[in-house]
Amino acid sequence: MTGSADRLTLLDVEDVTKEFDGVRGAAQTTVLRGVSLRVAPGEMVAIVGPSGSGKSTLLYCLAGLEPVSTGRVKLFGRDIATLGRNALAKLRRDQIGFVFQAYNLIPSLSAEENAGLPGRLARRKGAASAARSALEAVGLSSRGRFLPGKLSGGQQQRVAIARVLASGAMLVFADEPTGALDTRTGEQVLSLLRDAATGERSVVIVTHDLEAASRADRVLVLRDGVIHAELHAPTSENVLEAVRAAGEEVPAA
Ligand SMILES: Nc1ncnc2c1ncn2[C@@H]1O[C@H](COP(=O)(O)OP(=O)(O)OP(=O)(O)O)[C@@H](O)[C@H]1O
Ligand SMILES: [Mg+2]
Repeated sequence: MTGSADRLTLLDVEDVTKEFDGVRGAAQTTVLRGVSLRVAPGEMVAIVGPSGSGKSTLLYCLAGLEPVSTGRVKLFGRDIATLGRNALAKLRRDQIGFVFQAYNLIPSLSAEENAGLPGRLARRKGAASAARSALEAVGLSSRGRFLPGKLSGGQQQRVAIARVLASGAMLVFADEPTGALDTRTGEQVLSLLRDAATGERSVVIVTHDLEAASRADRVLVLRDGVIHAELHAPTSENVLEAVRAAGEEVPAA
């Protein structure tokens, strides 16, 4: 980060569109049709919307995992289109964390080794002790030597969060992080993500769980590849209303 203006927005997205090429002569699919948003340090932003509205695609574009078709994504004040492959990979490794629905841990590495992996890849001093502290922070210090296969789904997801915390990433993306978990375990994982959005670190989460979304500072409702609504003081009621207005069928609780 350079100037103070850059410190105000970790993520600055302007008019992003995304098209996928059609397979075998089929027409192109336009998934994002002009999305602009900003994320400030310490903020937790939730993205909700009907299935197929482009939430995952948007998240991958924001994280620099998927190139945009037009528009601009600035991470930490830097337009990622101007970064070379290596610079972008380094930025992702050092500053960005990702939590997936399917945990994405390395099966042959212990919980502690998984948590410490980004730091080890970056040859960071103290990677192992950062991993231990992060495992303690997610309540798993007694499971450090376990392989992922010996952990429950919720425990594996907590290791994935420990990996993000240990890496020191300032921007954390999570795509349906509670999607495979029961309600109670999902709440634990969500609380950890909520707590992770503090100081300079921000969290952007995609979720179908409207209760979860309402715990964010801000909720963006995506519909057909555009931001259809933005809620600044989300409650589960107004998120439900906004999602219904975006055309998602949500059964009554
Ligand atoms: N690699 C790809 N190639 C072509 N089309 C794609 C690709 N990835 C996604 N799409 C299309 O983009 C649209 C949006 O997909 P996306 O996964 O972003 O939706 P989503 O909002 O995350 O949905 P869900 O809630 O079901 O996860 C879908 O119509 C999908 O078929
Ligand atoms: Mg998705």
